[in-house]
Amino acid sequence: MENLRALVAKYKADIAAEQPTTPDAIEAFRIKYLGTKGLLKTIMGEMKNVAPENKKEAGQLLNDFKVFTENTFASFTEAAGTQTNATAVGIDLTLPGTPAPLGTRHPISIVRNKIISIFNKLGFAVAEGPEIEDDFHNFSALNLPENHPARDMQDTFYISQNPDWLLRTHTSSVQIREMQKGTLPLRIICPGRVFRNETISARAHCFFNQVEGLYIAENVSFADLKQTLYFFVTEMFGADVKVRFRPSYFPFTEPSAEMDISCLICHGKGCNVCKKTGWVEILGCGMVHPKVLENCGIDSNKYTGFAFGMGIERITMLNYQIKDLRLFSENDVRFLKQFESA
Ligand code: DAH
Repeated sequence: MENLRALVAKYKADIAAEQPTTPDAIEAFRIKYLGTKGLLKTIMGEMKNVAPENKKEAGQLLNDFKVFTENTFASFTEAAGTQTNATAVGIDLTLPGTPAPLGTRHPISIVRNKIISIFNKLGFAVAEGPEIEDDFHNFSALNLPENHPARDMQDTFYISQNPDWLLRTHTSSVQIREMQKGTLPLRIICPGRVFRNETISARAHCFFNQVEGLYIAENVSFADLKQTLYFFVTEMFGADVKVRFRPSYFPFTEPSAEMDISCLICHGKGCNVCKKTGWVEILGCGMVHPKVLENCGIDSNKYTGFAFGMGIERITMLNYQIKDLRLFSENDVRFLKQFESA
């Protein structure tokens, strides 16, 4: 046993000193230690000379040595294999890799997310609805009955299989769906894509994005609406931007207004973007018409509310001084990569 232990220790030290890297040297190592006439076989042969009471200990010792030798051999072949494969297929591992370009968020998404986070601060939750709507949610419930002239304000795409179905022309349809759920008070913003049959140009497109806002509770007033929108404008464009409301008409609100902000490009001096007026319109708004509340089963004597709707493209164009709407949907990476995610 003494001799056997000494022998194993010596061979282990020998093996640990070996560093074969070429295929030939590794093969020589294998023959020397693991071959049919190799060292491992020879030393295993010593078992027959071991006294019966030592057989168990000797067996363990030799088995450990066997595992050690095989593992060492495996580590040599593995290290050499990686190298050989790379060289075999002509890969130069020292060359820098091909960079994978990192995408950026679409400017519309950046602005939409910012609008959402501003209204989230005021407690507005995000609600969404379908892009294919029925006439009721897109028109009738919003106080635009059939043959109402205001239906012509928006050119509608109808679904040919079912004349009652259409591509929603505004996100106001989501208001109706949320009010129908009957949970009050209600404070939501609804971002989404809308569709209109318009000739595509720098200023119009057949699809674009809107954000609709709605707040329904007891005693909601026009002052609440104004304060909410002031907060939005300050957060979105900064405290220097001026705001004005002009009376307007929407069938679903009474009274109705449009809100302008002082032109971000010329700061009110007058330029092409504001058509020399110093003001740009950014949204429509008003107090929800009692008929709309009643259409959704809400008691208009108890509840009042305000609503507003804005186009995300318009705000994005003002924000980044983009002059052509078509850029948003052409997917030209040279355009898209200019906007870093917020
Ligand atoms: N739905 C209108 C549009 O697409 C925008 C709008 C105006 C929404 C006034 C409203 C509102 O909620 O109160 O032009």
